[in-house]
Amino acid sequence: MTGATSLLRVEELAKNYGGLQAVRGVSFDVRPGGITGLIGPNGAGKTTCFNMIAGAETPSAGKVFLDDEDVTGVPTNRLYHKGLMRTFQLSHEYARMTSLENLMVAGAHQTGENLFKSWFRPAEVAAREGEILERARDALDFLGLTHVTDELAGNLSGGQKKLLELGRTMMHDAKLVLLDEPGAGVNPTLMLEVIRMIRRLNEERGYTFCIIEHDMDLIADLCEKTIVLAEGRILMQGTMAEVRNDERVIDAYFGGDVV
Ligand SMILES: Nc1ncnc2c1ncn2[C@@H]1O[C@H](COP(=O)(O)OP(=O)(O)O)[C@@H](O)[C@H]1O
Ligand SMILES: [Mg+2]
Repeated sequence: MTGATSLLRVEELAKNYGGLQAVRGVSFDVRPGGITGLIGPNGAGKTTCFNMIAGAETPSAGKVFLDDEDVTGVPTNRLYHKGLMRTFQLSHEYARMTSLENLMVAGAHQTGENLFKSWFRPAEVAAREGEILERARDALDFLGLTHVTDELAGNLSGGQKKLLELGRTMMHDAKLVLLDEPGAGVNPTLMLEVIRMIRRLNEERGYTFCIIEHDMDLIADLCEKTIVLAEGRILMQGTMAEVRNDERVIDAYFGGDVV
C-alpha cells in the first residue's frame, strides 16, 4: 500500500438510467483501516454507488480511486486482485454446495488458468488446492461456522449465509470490503455475531469496510463516519450522533406524508 490517506476516493460519481439520475455528483473518501457507513432511504442510490465502485457498472461521470490509482471502469475481477471485495444485498451462495465448497470456489477464482496449469504443473495445482482448503477451513473457524462445514449452503439460516459471505472475502487478501446490507434477513442474535465478525475482521485482519445498512444499530455500533444519501446526492456526512440529530436526515426518511 502507498502512503495514501484515503484507500477509496470517489469524485463526482454519477449514474443515469435513461432519464433517471440514480446517482448525482457523489464525492467521499474512506480512510485505510476505517469503517464507513452508507445509509439512506430505498432508491437513494446506495447500491448503484457500490456497483460503480466495484466495477459492475460504468459511471456516467466521475472517478473512482483505489489507493490513489484511478480505477474508474476497471472490471470487477481486476479490482478483486487489487484487494477490493464486495458482498451483495441478496446473498450469493451456491445453494447445492456445502459451506466449505462455497468458500473453495471463491478461492479458486482463476479456473481457466488452473485448467491450463493442471496439465503442465500438476504439483503446483495440488499445492494451491491445499492452500485454498486451508484458507477455507480457517475462515469457517474464524467465523464460528465449523459446525456447518459440510452443510449445504441452501440450508443455512439468513445470518449464517451472511457470515459465509464474509468468508468469501477472506479467501483473498482483501483490503477494502463493500458490504451491501449485511444485516438484511438476519435474526437479532446472529446480528450481534455479524457485527462482532465485521469488527474482528477490521481489527485483526486489517480490512477497511464500507457498509450499506438499514439497521441503524449496526451502523452506530461499527461506523466512525456515516454518509447519508438521498435521491442520488449526499445529504450530509458525520458521526451517527450528528446524523441522528440532523433535520435534513429526519426529513429524508420521514418527510412528506410518510410517518
Ligand atoms: N439497472 C437499473 N436500471 C434502471 N434503474 C435502476 C437500475 N438500478 C437501479 N435503478 C434505479 O436507481 C435508483 C437507485 O437505486 P439503488 O442504487 O438500488 O438504491 P438503494 O440501494 O439506495 O436502495 C432507484 O430509483 C432504482 O430504481
Ligand atoms: Mg440497495
